[in-house]
Amino acid sequence: MILKITSIDANKALFNENIIKQFRKLTLYSSSGLNKELDNLTCLAQTKKVNAKMVAAHIGNTMVGWCLLSREPSHFSFYNGNYSKKLAEKYTLLEIFVSSKHRGMGIGTALIKRAKVLFSITKGQPFAIAPHSKAGNALFNKLAMKNYKLDGIEL
Ligand SMILES: CC(C)(COP(=O)(O)OP(=O)(O)OC[C@H]1O[C@@H](n2cnc3c(N)ncnc32)[C@H](O)[C@@H]1OP(=O)(O)O)[C@@H](O)C(=O)NCCC(=O)NCCS
Repeated sequence: MILKITSIDANKALFNENIIKQFRKLTLYSSSGLNKELDNLTCLAQTKKVNAKMVAAHIGNTMVGWCLLSREPSHFSFYNGNYSKKLAEKYTLLEIFVSSKHRGMGIGTALIKRAKVLFSITKGQPFAIAPHSKAGNALFNKLAMKNYKLDGIEL
């Protein structure tokens, strides 16, 4: 099995119906955080160049996982508030999803490893993450990613 990891500029992806369809297929449910973020960024991209990237994992021609990195403010909810403009200046919002059939094979790890080296968007600053599952927690812990409060104080 060959896993291919690619990074994609959101300004290209958001205008490509086929890619967006594949991203949306790989989400928890239709009003999930990733779907809301795609809605938000699609709207913003009509008026400006958005500061966001996607990292996609493919096996053959099939997309099996992806993550979103965004520096754009949004309604993304952390337990203590939204991903505000102030927060977006300090942290890169990161959300990730891997197809249930392909979990536990290292794909999530590979996606985040790539995300970590995308300095053009992260600027070497930390990620803002919101783990909501045991696996998500384990993945972020394994990769030493910390959760941040909206005021930027490390938990
Ligand atoms: C979280 C998620 C992205 C992990 O993807 P993955 O491809 O299965 O991750 P990996 O195979 O790279 O596993 C990474 C680590 O997570 C842990 N892990 C993975 N699945 C786990 C599970 N079901 N239970 C507990 N820990 C688990 C392991 O520690 C693993 O490291 P190891 O293999 O060195 O032991 C995937 O489970 C997913 O898409 N979940 C739904 C969406 C979600 O919760 N996203 C996170 C918040 S945005």
